[in-house]
Amino acid sequence: MAISENSIVGTIVADNYRTADVFKKHGIDFCCGGNISLSEAASQASTDTKALLHELESATAEKDLESDLLQRIELDELASLIVERHHSFIRENLVSIPPYLTKLADVHGANHPELLEVKVLFRQAAEALSSHINKEEQILFPRIKELVEANKKGIAAPRSHFGSIENPIRAMHAEHDDEGERFRTISALTNSYTVPADGCTTYRVGLAKLKAFEDDLHRHIHLENNILFPKAIELEKKSVF
Ligand SMILES: [Fe+2]
Ligand SMILES: [Fe+2]
Repeated sequence: MAISENSIVGTIVADNYRTADVFKKHGIDFCCGGNISLSEAASQASTDTKALLHELESATAEKDLESDLLQRIELDELASLIVERHHSFIRENLVSIPPYLTKLADVHGANHPELLEVKVLFRQAAEALSSHINKEEQILFPRIKELVEANKKGIAAPRSHFGSIENPIRAMHAEHDDEGERFRTISALTNSYTVPADGCTTYRVGLAKLKAFEDDLHRHIHLENNILFPKAIELEKKSVF
């Protein structure tokens, strides 16, 4: 796909995930706020659109086979992949990260009081994300599977107790926005996960794990907001008569 000023940011990233780094570098949110044109995103980030286009063209000189695949697979397979890859990653890290944050707050909290805030924010994220991924796995993703199966058979999908799939999707979007905002705060508090001069190995590992968590969350939300959810809304139109 040729990228132009009118291309949608989320679509550019869906076509080739190599572009995510370009958007990150310019502070452009491609996952929660990806539904805007490139020129709009450039102006919000006070970046020159032409220069941004040039960087995106360089980034997409090489195709990203995984992005191609993720756009082609059936939606129920994409939902399963999200669970296996991203929901599992969240569950593992909700166990492994808190001990680091507790230790950091105890040892370095006096000199770096922001660590106490980070610890509380991550605890809030853990609660919200646990509930969020459970809702996706128990309500939204089974409905997507039902729509895929009905569509394959060419029959009408049964009506859902929550009405249109746009209803749970709207709720998931709002929760994604909340997490995006929470991790923007964590990133700002830690100066983009930079270890201070008096930081020890635990400090370095703890911040590296937090950064990896945010990066994975961005890709996860991107797959849902920019690929899975819009396609599920289109599929519902074809499957519910
Ligand atoms: Fe998810
Ligand atoms: Fe989600």
